[in-house]
Amino acid sequence: MEHIIINGGNELHGSVKLQGSKNSILPILAASAVTGKVSVLHNCPRLSDVDAAINILCHIGCKVRRHGHTVIVDSSGADSFDIPDDMMREMRSSIIFLGALLARFGKARVTAPGGCEIGLRPIDLHLSALRSMGAVISEQGGQLDCRCPDGLTGRHITLNFPSVGATENVMLAAISAKGETVITNAAREPEIADLADYLNKCGVTVSGAGQSVIRIISDGKFCSAEHRIIPDRIVASTFMAAVACAGGSICVAGVEKEHLAPVIPVFEAAGCNFDFSGDEMTAEFYGRPRRVRRLRTMPYPGFPTDSQALFMAVAAKANGTSVVNEKIFENRFRHVPELVKMGADIRVEDCCVAVVEGVRNLHGAKVTACDLRGGSALAVAAMGAQGQTVIENIYHIDRGCEAFEDVFTSLGADIRRVQSLQE
Ligand code: UD1
Repeated sequence: MEHIIINGGNELHGSVKLQGSKNSILPILAASAVTGKVSVLHNCPRLSDVDAAINILCHIGCKVRRHGHTVIVDSSGADSFDIPDDMMREMRSSIIFLGALLARFGKARVTAPGGCEIGLRPIDLHLSALRSMGAVISEQGGQLDCRCPDGLTGRHITLNFPSVGATENVMLAAISAKGETVITNAAREPEIADLADYLNKCGVTVSGAGQSVIRIISDGKFCSAEHRIIPDRIVASTFMAAVACAGGSICVAGVEKEHLAPVIPVFEAAGCNFDFSGDEMTAEFYGRPRRVRRLRTMPYPGFPTDSQALFMAVAAKANGTSVVNEKIFENRFRHVPELVKMGADIRVEDCCVAVVEGVRNLHGAKVTACDLRGGSALAVAAMGAQGQTVIENIYHIDRGCEAFEDVFTSLGADIRRVQSLQE
């Protein structure tokens, strides 16, 4: 089993290019199955989750080619509405193919995703919205059998929480629905706006994405499209956290400053300095992080839950007490016991509040990545810790961060991947 070994203490210096957004490419790949045309998608990160989505596309009959960071999907030959259990389990967000298959074939057979590392993650909002659009869905033994006997019909749908996945599933189903679909209390994440941009290029009319009310109208006629995936704002916050933990000055190219608006003030409050010029961000930090009195995760434009663990790695070294309130997922503190092994002083209260008493130094330890962002947070903490850290279960990190150790080696970190601990 692969591990990452990090010898902490090196400042970070140099330039890196930010990867494309994982959470954007996944729904866009699902959407590409609906059009029956060719989609040329640039800036696709090389990640195991992207491979899992491509495997699903190939399974349902699409032709997919990858040239570096460009993925070309030809969905003209798609002929299967059935995704096997093992492919669905590979990646929880494969539930996004439900809306896509319904839009393409008027039927779908998929496995309902169970809970995962970060929480229960039910799909009740997805299913009730799709049902209101005309889908008849039966659930048996974890299998979802869905059909639309009278086709899909556009509806006014109000989500009782701005779920990212439910918003995407409704948008995908809506592109072959009769009449207008209106989603109220839609998720406002930049990845939703990116999906809308791609759909508009395919001939669908989507307006309001990025705001709370999204309208989708489609005449069912699609065209081939070329699209560039937006930069990954969560990986950008990984670089911010790494500099705040290890110190130094780095330049990250390819950022979208607006998408980082929820995280910039928090890292600035911790003592980071940022300078933006065009699509480049220079992040600089020296000394000891300042505590941030209280941080709450919220749907966009609030502080992202995906950056919470990364921020906690910084708060663990801060000069005082920071309180982190996780408001999106009920089980997103699994990195806490691992940070504690590295000398952090963190107490979890009522599942969703972590009280972080900053310590002057973290030390190396043998730790386990328990989920994607939590794994990156351990690596970031290790870069600023004294001594050697060994991180297990690094496949979690590979789900979201492309060539993690190569990127940070290029910035001066002492980090390497080994197949076994004997190496
Ligand atoms: C997406 C992101 C994930 C991010 C999350 C919140 C992708 C591939 N993943 O996940 O990285 O952390 O948004 O920004 O884009 N919920 C329900 N019922 C539902 C749907 C959701 O109760 O039908 C709850 C969830 O359990 C969770 C909350 O709503 O507590 C947010 O979930 P949601 O926004 O749907 O997140 P995902 O789309 O799964």
